[in-house]
Amino acid sequence: MRAFLNFAATALLSALALAPRIVAAQGGPPPLPPLGAPPIPASNPQTPAKIALGQALYWDEQLSITGTVACGTCHMPRAGGNEPRTAQPNSASVNPGSDQLFGSNDDIVGSMGVANHDADGLYQTSALFGMAPQVGTRQSQSAINAAYPTTLFWDGRAGSVFVDPITQTTLIANGGALENQALGPVVNGVEMAHTARTLLDVATRVAGVRPLRLSPYVPPALQSWIANRDYPTLFAEVFGSNEVTPARIALAIASYERSLIANQTPHDLQSLTQAEVAGRQAFQQAGCARCHGGPLLSDNDFHYIGVRPQNADPGRFAVTANNADRGRMRTPPLRNVELSAPYFADGRFRTLEEVVDFYNRGGDFTAPNKDPRIVPLGLNAQQRAAIVTFLKRPLTDPRAQNETGPFERPMLFSESPYLPQPASAGTPGLGATTPRLFAAEPPLAGSSEFTIGVDRGRALAAARAVLSLSDPTSADAPAVLTQNFALTSSGSGSMHLALPNDANLQGVTLYLRVFVEDAAASGGWSSSNSVSFQLLEINDEVFRQGFED
Ligand code: HEC
Ligand code: HEC
Repeated sequence: MRAFLNFAATALLSALALAPRIVAAQGGPPPLPPLGAPPIPASNPQTPAKIALGQALYWDEQLSITGTVACGTCHMPRAGGNEPRTAQPNSASVNPGSDQLFGSNDDIVGSMGVANHDADGLYQTSALFGMAPQVGTRQSQSAINAAYPTTLFWDGRAGSVFVDPITQTTLIANGGALENQALGPVVNGVEMAHTARTLLDVATRVAGVRPLRLSPYVPPALQSWIANRDYPTLFAEVFGSNEVTPARIALAIASYERSLIANQTPHDLQSLTQAEVAGRQAFQQAGCARCHGGPLLSDNDFHYIGVRPQNADPGRFAVTANNADRGRMRTPPLRNVELSAPYFADGRFRTLEEVVDFYNRGGDFTAPNKDPRIVPLGLNAQQRAAIVTFLKRPLTDPRAQNETGPFERPMLFSESPYLPQPASAGTPGLGATTPRLFAAEPPLAGSSEFTIGVDRGRALAAARAVLSLSDPTSADAPAVLTQNFALTSSGSGSMHLALPNDANLQGVTLYLRVFVEDAAASGGWSSSNSVSFQLLEINDEVFRQGFED
């Protein structure tokens, strides 16, 4: 009933807001209203400098322990503010779900963060992922237009009060969900952190690094604002003193996010084709707008709609402990939804066609609290296609898609050719397992702590990392550097390599492979896959020390 009233109120508002000519021309339900400016909390006013600082922090991979994951890694404008890697078929971004088995029905297409790291910045095997980057249990939601909802996340656990995590002072009494959210990922051991990383560790890191130093490209406006200054100086311009605190990091990132408003879709500009107007009508007639109504195309309420068995993900129940909330998820806004595949909290569907088919059959699972509006809809092929048409171009802001205007952004190190690239495959050892080498950190010339990890090797075996000018094929290959270490009883290991700082190696491609002593392998060693990279010449002391602390 409440939802119906919302819908009626929304329809009324939009009818008032729009020219009668347009309402009359289509003859169906009134158009959905356009998106106005977002609310700004009074105690965190927007300033151009704060937005710029937030943009730098949001795109700075140095906020992660590996130097390879920024907020933006999982929230790209061209992917509708979501995670672009998960849209690839067969993407490695899979979490095995509650049965912990890969390849079963409850697998989740989630976001890839960092490998499991201990407090010294060495890789640790995780039960599910070994030394590969870990993948969370949910699809990302969009950081675009995230300024509007009063609670964030699929389960709404980021509430609207923002308390300084260090001083415990309430900084924002209402409307601070973005600030609240921003400090989660940086200390999350799956997304950006190592075990036991604290917010103060993050603030110390930020204070010590050159802003966006790893980005191969920074948009000119941001570049000239940063102007070779360090973060404390930038914080001083924005906040009046140079302390880098977790709360200030959150205030700046949230301000930047409040500038990411996708409100220039054809739907907002009322430039829909006839077929698209018909699509919007089909969307409304099918009852979609009852939950995906209003300017965001979301009621910001929680519903269980039968995507998965009710207890596969507790959803809202995790926040309220109310049984009626089991499996309920926050209705996702639908702007830019065309760009943000795969869909639903578990990334179950790759196409909007599949999503509409799902609704047309009334969902796939049921439970006592399933929303009564999720029932077979009896839509014919033409109606289904019309709904999909509406979900595509009409709801896509081309500036987000093309990363222009407010969505223009720094390029990430991990998008650059400097990221260590796969070179060639390894050779198996005992039991025919081939050791896997992971090397993702920026390979900085002279870094004493370039972290590598190996798993799937022989238990307790001796291992040797070989860095060479050509792809090494044996443990005794001519090398720029070799380093011995021992694998654990689980056949894995991690260590820091000291990368050379040698002018002769500038611009030269190097190859890295790990050999594992193994009598059952040909030549007495099994070998990992190899990676290639060029050394990055960045002469800051903090870079030399590596990314661990
Ligand atoms: C490893 C990938 C990853 C990284 C890194 C990451 N996020 Fe997210 N983000 C997610 C996922 C997954 C969710 C949804 C989680 C959930 O709902 O439980 C999410 C949710 C959000 C939301 C909520 C959107 C909504 O409508 O509820 C915002 C805002 C957000 N992230 C911003 C950020 C910021 C700011 C950072 C950096 C400080 C960041 N994210 C880093 C994956 C990531
Ligand atoms: C009862 C409320 C409700 C109705 C009615 C409804 N939806 Fe949804 N919609 C949701 C919720 C809740 C989710 C997230 C569910 C989840 O992930 O478990 C969702 C997810 C989606 C998504 C995926 C978005 C993303 O970012 O992953 C699309 C697309 C979508 N709905 C389109 C539609 C269409 C089209 C209709 C009409 C045929 C419709 N919805 C009807 C509540 C609703």
